[in-house]
Amino acid sequence: MIIQPRVRGFICLTSHPEGTAQHVKQQIDYVKSKGKIDNGPKKVLVIGASTGFGLASRITAAFGSDADTIGVFFEKPAAPGKPGTAGWYNTAAFEKEAQAAGLYAKSINGDAFSDEIKKQTIALIKEDLGQVDLVVYSLASPRRTHPKTGTVHTSVLKPIGQTFTDKTVDFHSGVVSDISIQPVESEEDIDNTITVMGGEDWKFWIEQMKKAGVLAEGAKTVAYSYIGPELTYPIYRNGTIGKAKDDLEGTVPLLNDLLSDIGGRSYVSVNKALVTQSSSAIPVVPLYISLLYKVMKEKGIHEGTIEQMQRLFAERLYADREIPLDEKGRIRVDDWEMRDDVQTEVAKLWEQISTENLEQISDIVGYRNDFFNLFGFNFDAIDYNKDTNELVNIPSIKD
Ligand code: NAI
Repeated sequence: MIIQPRVRGFICLTSHPEGTAQHVKQQIDYVKSKGKIDNGPKKVLVIGASTGFGLASRITAAFGSDADTIGVFFEKPAAPGKPGTAGWYNTAAFEKEAQAAGLYAKSINGDAFSDEIKKQTIALIKEDLGQVDLVVYSLASPRRTHPKTGTVHTSVLKPIGQTFTDKTVDFHSGVVSDISIQPVESEEDIDNTITVMGGEDWKFWIEQMKKAGVLAEGAKTVAYSYIGPELTYPIYRNGTIGKAKDDLEGTVPLLNDLLSDIGGRSYVSVNKALVTQSSSAIPVVPLYISLLYKVMKEKGIHEGTIEQMQRLFAERLYADREIPLDEKGRIRVDDWEMRDDVQTEVAKLWEQISTENLEQISDIVGYRNDFFNLFGFNFDAIDYNKDTNELVNIPSIKD
């Protein structure tokens, strides 16, 4: 079929199998260009492995450290005349590249919040790998069915306490406007967001894996968080999602206790703001990212998800020195984003930004390009008017 982008708001309803494969290949090539990571992980489970930071983590482990990888995610395969999701195609491409490189790679498609998928994953580790030495937790989801109660919790992206008004951009039309977001009406919204995006599910994974004996001596686990600048605090760090991130970060000491007898450690890494399917859904953030890209590219310090994850593995998690942590015990690879010179410049541009000067003073073009790349579009080498086979299989997943 001919597959062109079909966009609704911050979602692209279609994905291109050849384009996503190219996107994956670019990330693999980047990791290879950086050379092998000494003493990197060897057997890795990535939860949320099909897009964004999770996919980049899986690629870094496999191609930077020759690791065997198991990836868990929630994606839709293609049906005749209906493309699969980007994460489905990404994984198909990743597994093929891994196989060609002689690396073990298998994937599980299902609800990572469920006990059933945890059991399946543990069984697969036992059967094929014995144990894993790294667990990456990179889920981003709008809802979670709680495995103990069956209740479906839905997260909200809202400020707490007062209405938040600031600029935002419709990144397709390029219109900059003011947006007012009403605060949460009840504690329940906060609790639900914590239940979905906080640390409980990460803890469930590690508890069950430990109990089953599938965590190797000295195993590490890492989950991802965000802080960002003050201008996004009301909607991000001081909003409902920020409460969930506080909870995720607060899970680290609990996991450290749990892992202490096998000499394991848990970490939260605070990553840079980047265009992913999840971040494009947060109001205000896409405009901030467009300005951030402009400033960081001009300074020659821009990174995408793959550069971030390669640096996290090579210069933090597996560097030949003690891992530097901030005052709250977190790894920081948002260090370049948060540099004073970067933030001062972004804040100055934030004051000036409008529909009229958007193209000049922000990198909205780069934002859009990254957005379309996520779904396999905007790659020069691909003719999007040509037929492509939408029915692509993930080698390790049987129909
Ligand atoms: P993403 O949307 O690209 O990836 C989410 C992954 O979770 C996908 O693999 C998806 O299939 C999987 N997933 C979602 N629901 C699932 C379920 N029920 N069962 C199994 N898999 C499921 O998101 P992104 O942006 O890579 O986010 C990953 C983490 O990084 C999140 O914790 C996010 O808060 C954090 N982060 C993101 C930043 C950004 O700017 N995008 C910045 C800093 C941290």
